[in-house]
Amino acid sequence: MSLPSEINKRRTFAIIAHPDAGKTTLTEKLLLFGGAIQTAGAVKSNKIDTATKSDWMEIEKQRGISVATSVMGFEYKQVKINLLDTPGHQDFAEDTYRTLTAVDSVIMVIDCVKGVEIQTEKLMEVCRMRNTPVICFINKLDREGRDPYDLLDEVESKLNIKVRPLSWPIGMGKGFKGVYNLFEKKLNLFTPSQRKLSDDRQVFEDLGDDRLDMLIGTSNAQQLREDVELIEGVYPEFEINEYLEGKVAPVFFGSAVNNFGVNEMLDTFIQIAPIPQSRETDVREVSPSEAKFSGFIFKIHANMDPNHRNRIAFLRICSGKFERNRPYHHVRGPKPLRFSNVTQFMAQDKEIIDEAFPGDIVGLYDTGNLKIGDTLTEGENMVYTGIPSFSPEIFREVVNKDAMKTKQLEKGLKQLMEEGVAQLFTFDMGARKVVGTVGQLQFEVIQFRLKNEYNATVEFHPMNLYKACWISCKDKKQLDEFVRSKNRYIARDKDEKLVFMAESKSWLQMVQDNYPEIEFHFTSEF
Ligand code: G4P
Repeated sequence: MSLPSEINKRRTFAIIAHPDAGKTTLTEKLLLFGGAIQTAGAVKSNKIDTATKSDWMEIEKQRGISVATSVMGFEYKQVKINLLDTPGHQDFAEDTYRTLTAVDSVIMVIDCVKGVEIQTEKLMEVCRMRNTPVICFINKLDREGRDPYDLLDEVESKLNIKVRPLSWPIGMGKGFKGVYNLFEKKLNLFTPSQRKLSDDRQVFEDLGDDRLDMLIGTSNAQQLREDVELIEGVYPEFEINEYLEGKVAPVFFGSAVNNFGVNEMLDTFIQIAPIPQSRETDVREVSPSEAKFSGFIFKIHANMDPNHRNRIAFLRICSGKFERNRPYHHVRGPKPLRFSNVTQFMAQDKEIIDEAFPGDIVGLYDTGNLKIGDTLTEGENMVYTGIPSFSPEIFREVVNKDAMKTKQLEKGLKQLMEEGVAQLFTFDMGARKVVGTVGQLQFEVIQFRLKNEYNATVEFHPMNLYKACWISCKDKKQLDEFVRSKNRYIARDKDEKLVFMAESKSWLQMVQDNYPEIEFHFTSEF
C-alpha cells in the first residue's frame, strides 16, 4: 500500500474523562466493535482503587499492566484505529498531557449526572493548546442525569468550546427511550443490554411520521419534534472544518455500559475524525506524506523488572515509513540509534513489527538513550515542538540521606526525570534540589525506585511553593538583573532553563506587576 493510502487509513486518538465517567467502559466497547476483543471485561481499568491508593507498589503493578494496553490498535470498517490509553489516576495527569501531544483527536466522555468535572476541564485546556479536535460523548443516559440543554451549556461555558449535538436523547434514566441521530436522521431505540453489539437504527427522514408516535409514545414523539426543531434553530449547521480546527465539538449521547450510542459515534468518528496531521518542529512544519521518516518520543515506561534497566519508549511516527533495524538520527544524541525490538500494540497483544506509518505508535526497547521529547529522523536536524512540561503543583525538597551514594542519587533522579515521573528544579543558591509533581503519589514512587533501582536513600521535605514559572525576557540585561535581584527564588529545570519559584499566588502577581518586562510562563515551551 502506498504511503498516502496508509496515512488515510489511520485515526489516532485518546479518550479523556474525569475518573468514573466511563472511559474504560467506552474503550472496551470500541474494542468489541473493532473485533479486537471478544468478551466484555477484557480491558483492565487502569484506575487506581482507593483501597490500594496508598500502596504505590500496587499502583506501579497496575501501571505495568496498563503498558500492554497503552496503545490499542484495531481495524474498523477498513480504518486502522490507534487508541491511546491515558492513566486513570489524576496524580499521573502529566502522563496524560503528554499522551495528548501524540494524538490527532480526542473523544471526551462526560457523565450526564455529574456534568463537566475538574479533570475534564484541565484536559481540555491541554487539547486547546494544540487545537485538537474533540468529540463529546455524554454517557450514562440510563441514569437520571441533568437536562441535556444544561449539559451542553456547561460544556460550552466550562470547556470554552462551541458544541453541536449530532444526536439527541429521548428521555433519560428509567424513561430513556433512545437517541435520534441528527446527522443521519435515524432513530436508535434503547434496549438495556450489556451484550448487544449493534444498534437498531431506523431511518426517519420526516419526524412527522406517525410511526414515531407508535415507537416511542406520543408525548416523547412530540417532545423530540420540539427539541429537534429547537436544536436545528439554535445551533448552526455542523461544519466539519470547524470541528477539525478544534472550534466546535460534536456531541453524542449514549450509555457505554449498555453499548448504546457507541456504534453510532464510532461510525461518525471514522467519517469525520482527522487522519494523521502535519506537525510543527523548531525549523518547519512536517507533513506526514513526506517520504523520510520522522517521529518523537512522548512517553517512557520503566521496565518492571529491576534486574534489567530496560525501558519502553513510545514513538509517534509523524512522517514517512519507520523501519525496524534501520539506523536513525537521534537529534539530541551523539550517535545514530537502531531498534531491533519494535513492538506494536494490538488490543491486549504486543507484536514485533518491521514497519510502521504516520499515526502509528510503536514501543522501542531502550537502554537509557532516549528521553521524552526526543526526535528521531533520517538525518535532518529538527525537533518536534508541543511536548511541554507543565508547572507542577506540589513541591518537595530532596534530602540525601546517604552521602556515600550521591552519584547514584544524581543518576537515579536524572533517569526518573527523563521518564517523566516528575520534574526536578535545582536552585541557583545552595544547589538545593526540588522535585515537583502533580500528585502526592509520585513522591512515594520516586523514593522507592531510587532505593530499589539505584540504591540511593532520600527523604522529601515539604516546601512552601506555589508555582514554578519559566521566565524569559527580550532584553537579556533585564533578565540578568531580575535573576540577580531574585536570586533566592531562581532555579534551573532539567534543561538548564531559568525558572522562577513563586511562593504564593499573590506574591507572584506582585512580582509580575513589578517586572512587566519579564515574561512568566506556566509551561516549559513558549
Ligand atoms: P473510568 O474508566 O472513566 O474511570 O470509568 P469506568 O469505565 O470504569 O466506569 C465507571 C463506572 O461507571 C463503572 O461502574 C461502570 O460500569 C459505570 N458505567 C459506565 N458506563 C455506564 C453507563 O452508560 N451507565 C451506567 N449506569 N453506568 C456506567 P463501577 O460500579 O465502578 O464498576 P463495575 O463494577 O460496573 O465495573
